[in-house]
Amino acid sequence: MQAGDVLMVCLGNICRSPLAEGIFSHYSQDYTIRVDSAGTANYHTGAAPDPRSIAIASENKIDISAQKARQFTVKDFQRFDYIYVMDKQNLSNVLRLATTAQERAKVRLLLDPHEVEDPYYGGDEGFAIVFDKIAKACKEIIAQWKH
Ligand code: 4NP
Repeated sequence: MQAGDVLMVCLGNICRSPLAEGIFSHYSQDYTIRVDSAGTANYHTGAAPDPRSIAIASENKIDISAQKARQFTVKDFQRFDYIYVMDKQNLSNVLRLATTAQERAKVRLLLDPHEVEDPYYGGDEGFAIVFDKIAKACKEIIAQWKH
């Protein structure tokens, strides 16, 4: 796999995908790429990440506090080479907006075939589990970029 611009997508862009953006940016510093995140929903547009995501990132020396939530748009299919979604609902919502096979091919589950479950309604431990799963997946992707 070639290095490329990465978009991380979840539902609200306040819990999972901000962590994925921060973690992927952290581990991809050898590459000049764009890393961003977005939500399929617009309910949190402009909001900072959930305090629990900020906290678990900070415990791992990653600062995601300056991020602001935004909604996924069809322009993202042009702006990014890889669009990683957290769960199957995100997958169908993003794929529904794709208009070409090339756009559909950019979209995949970050933990394919598994999902990064939504930690929003649970406790802090859910955020720690999500952090670890996302970090493992990001490291594996970046390792595949190195030849
Ligand atoms: P995220 O989590 O998709 O990981 O950002 C959620 C955040 C907010 C809501 C749901 C999931 N919500 O229903 O407001």
